[in-house]
Amino acid sequence: MEHQQQHQKKNLLFQSPLLALILSLFLVASVLYSERNIHQIHDHHSTQQDQHQLQQLSITRTSLPRNISAAKLDRFTKCSSSRGYSGRKTRRVDHSMPDLHGGRSYVDECDVFNGKWVYDDVSYPLYNESDCPYMSDQLACKKHGRLDLDYQKWRWQPNNCNLKRWNVTEMWEKLRGKRLMFVGDSLNRGQWISMVCLLQSVIPTDRRSMSPNAPLTIFKAEDYNATVEFYWAPLLVESNSDDPVNHRLDDRIIRPDSVLKHAAEWEKADILVFNTYLWWRQGPVKLLWSTEENGVCEELEGLGAMELAMETWADWVNSKVDHLSKRVFFVTMSPTHLWSWEWEAESEGNCFGQKTPIDMKNYWGTGSDLPTMRMAEKVLGSLRSKVSVLNITQLSEYRKDGHPSIYRKFWEAFSPKQLSKPSSYSDCIHWCLPGVPDVWNELLFNFL
Ligand SMILES: *[C@@H]1O[C@H](CO)[C@@H](O)[C@H](O)[C@H]1NC(C)=O
Ligand SMILES: *[C@@H]1O[C@H](CO)[C@@H](O)[C@H](O)[C@H]1NC(C)=O
Ligand SMILES: *[C@@H]1O[C@H](CO)[C@@H](O)[C@H](O)[C@H]1NC(C)=O
Ligand SMILES: *[C@@H]1O[C@H](CO)[C@@H](O)[C@H](O)[C@H]1NC(C)=O
Ligand SMILES: *[C@@H]1O[C@H](CO)[C@@H](O)[C@H](O)[C@H]1NC(C)=O
Repeated sequence: MEHQQQHQKKNLLFQSPLLALILSLFLVASVLYSERNIHQIHDHHSTQQDQHQLQQLSITRTSLPRNISAAKLDRFTKCSSSRGYSGRKTRRVDHSMPDLHGGRSYVDECDVFNGKWVYDDVSYPLYNESDCPYMSDQLACKKHGRLDLDYQKWRWQPNNCNLKRWNVTEMWEKLRGKRLMFVGDSLNRGQWISMVCLLQSVIPTDRRSMSPNAPLTIFKAEDYNATVEFYWAPLLVESNSDDPVNHRLDDRIIRPDSVLKHAAEWEKADILVFNTYLWWRQGPVKLLWSTEENGVCEELEGLGAMELAMETWADWVNSKVDHLSKRVFFVTMSPTHLWSWEWEAESEGNCFGQKTPIDMKNYWGTGSDLPTMRMAEKVLGSLRSKVSVLNITQLSEYRKDGHPSIYRKFWEAFSPKQLSKPSSYSDCIHWCLPGVPDVWNELLFNFL
């Protein structure tokens, strides 16, 4: 029943080309602009980085004039031509094998992702927005004028058990001598910032540091000899969007069969937390196979391309990760709240002005694509217990109140017409901090 209803809503969405257009433009704008916040942390670095990029380009051009497969895939890469997808796969693993462990290791057999939000202004927020020097202007909603602060005060309560309470010293002990690395897009970066904010308060200023080496950014705590890092790889596999600041969302070229360049960094981590999703939701993607020597790309719709990428990633997890000494997590789709009619019939807004969670059991919006979830489940299932799934989709679906909407820094200028209708430029994709990603990290804490 529910699914049928969703289906109708989806059709409605696509029958309205204008809505679909606005949605896609909005996604492009907000995801794209969101990446600029890395400048907030390290402004001075961008020129150096640009020079680095140019250098890379000229090296590629002079030493390898025609061999595109050996050339670096970067934001300047172009396809010489494009054709339809050949049907080629990245991996030959038999998915029909039974999945004995369910692909995840639940805490005490309890499904911690199944539960409800409970208002708790005694324990929450876990930190104050203004107390975190690493806060991003894209996520600092209070600083940008949000007055209703209840979004900071919800605790996730699983139905059949309790989560272990967040304990910052205990978390640091778990991280002692280790590298924790978040890998993915701006949603994953939000979770990383949340983790840094949760952890930093107990470390004296002169015993901690933040390195500005995008695409890898490293928070280090000397006394624990531990780091909490973020590595930008929105499509997991190598792509022309691997520069955290300069990339194009509208013309993505991926190397569907390679994570080599990224994995060189991933291999150094002890705990890895991956995500990928929204970048695959922007129409077709171009595939440039590493064996392709003439720059000919194949074009494939997002879900198919995401599956190829996840298979390549899964191959790496399966063959290159030592599962006795390392932990790997995958964070499922982060939901968006772009259409208020999904939770309130006949209404015309989005997440703007929403102050309370959705109180409808198993609510599921159109932003969380079910075929994508099925695909992810299949790939993750083939890895069995090698990956723990942080299945945050359902719990975050309830949190229409958790997005920045207009209360964040925007880098583009808005017209008077847009300004007169705040929902037209609201960010209903990312999450305010303190807020929902803190709870994702509490779940991670429970699994470590
Ligand atoms: C292109 O580079 C690949 C990988 O280095 C190599 O195997 C291939 O022979 C090269 N092709 C040409 C035409 O130079
Ligand atoms: C946040 O700030 C308020 C008031 O300044 C203070 O009472 C509270 O303890 C702080 N909370 C945390 C988690 O630091
Ligand atoms: C947090 O963990 C530490 C170390 O395990 C323990 O000593 C401390 O009592 C815990 N704090 C709370 C508030 O539970
Ligand atoms: C710090 O941690 C790294 C691994 O991240 C390890 O190689 C190194 O030996 C540690 N240093 C000390 C002083 O414990
Ligand atoms: C995550 O949970 C949902 C139910 O909320 C389920 O339908 C989905 O299959 C789960 N995804 C994975 C990858 O386990």
